[in-house]
Amino acid sequence: MSRQSNDHAAPSHQGMILTFASGGKGGVGKSATAVNLAGALANRDYNVALVDTDIGSLEQNTKGTRSTSEWLNYRADLLDQGYDYPVISGYMLSPDARIHGELQKLAQLHDYVIVDTPGEAAVALRSAVAVSDVVFLPMNCIPVELNPLRTFFQLQIDLEESFALTNPDFKIDVRLLPTRIHAKRRLAKETFMEWYGAGIQNLASISGVSIPDTPRIPETICSGYSLHDIREPMRANFDLLIDEIHGKRSLKAVRVISEEVVS
Ligand SMILES: Nc1ncnc2c1ncn2[C@@H]1O[C@H](COP(=O)(O)OP(=O)(O)OP(=O)(O)O)[C@@H](O)[C@H]1O
Ligand SMILES: [Mg+2]
Repeated sequence: MSRQSNDHAAPSHQGMILTFASGGKGGVGKSATAVNLAGALANRDYNVALVDTDIGSLEQNTKGTRSTSEWLNYRADLLDQGYDYPVISGYMLSPDARIHGELQKLAQLHDYVIVDTPGEAAVALRSAVAVSDVVFLPMNCIPVELNPLRTFFQLQIDLEESFALTNPDFKIDVRLLPTRIHAKRRLAKETFMEWYGAGIQNLASISGVSIPDTPRIPETICSGYSLHDIREPMRANFDLLIDEIHGKRSLKAVRVISEEVVS
């Protein structure tokens, strides 16, 4: 028997926590997609918090890419200059900290809490994933991404196993989000679905929305506005993603959760 994991009927908090994560491979589009989703939601008058945990690790002595918090700074400058863009609350949290408590508090105060995470294993990533309503894994559907994604799935499996001790139904709603698809480099559809069918379908769904490769997205990340703020036609993809988050559009593939046979 299987059970669908696409059920947000009774979240334990007021707002939804949506986390962008990846496996070991960075540069898949987490930050660019996160800021544009935040902009799309804010333009629908939702109260949005955008949390950057990719700010560099003291423990690992890394710098972080800071693109989300930079985007928030650019946006603050634009608002100061008089641009009429909706306000998005920004937060920077350490990748080395357990942040689930902070995220749950933010979810009491906002309709959506969007969390951008570093591409490497980090304490904050694990902590955010544990309390997320949806975890998006943007992926460009190219061969080199598949193995690094295992690091994320291992984290997910560890979390689900540890929570299962107290809550047997605990599952994380993880969704592969095809992003920045390069027609020439991407895997053949059959190869992709073969990979998905060989174990991944028991861990993650596939979003029915894909975020296209458009030069307007790098432009937004360096400017502080989102596709929605500038009424760019490609923003429609983010509307579809919001509909999917709201359960108004079906996923391309729904995670298959097999019930363990109790002997
Ligand atoms: N849909 C898109 N179309 C075109 N370019 C994109 C798109 N999404 C992301 N990019 C570009 O790809 C690069 C990597 O994107 P981004 O910084 O969002 O990835 P990331 O997963 O957050 O990376 P990191 O792991 O370094 O944090 C950036 O230059 C970004 O502008
Ligand atoms: Mg990033």
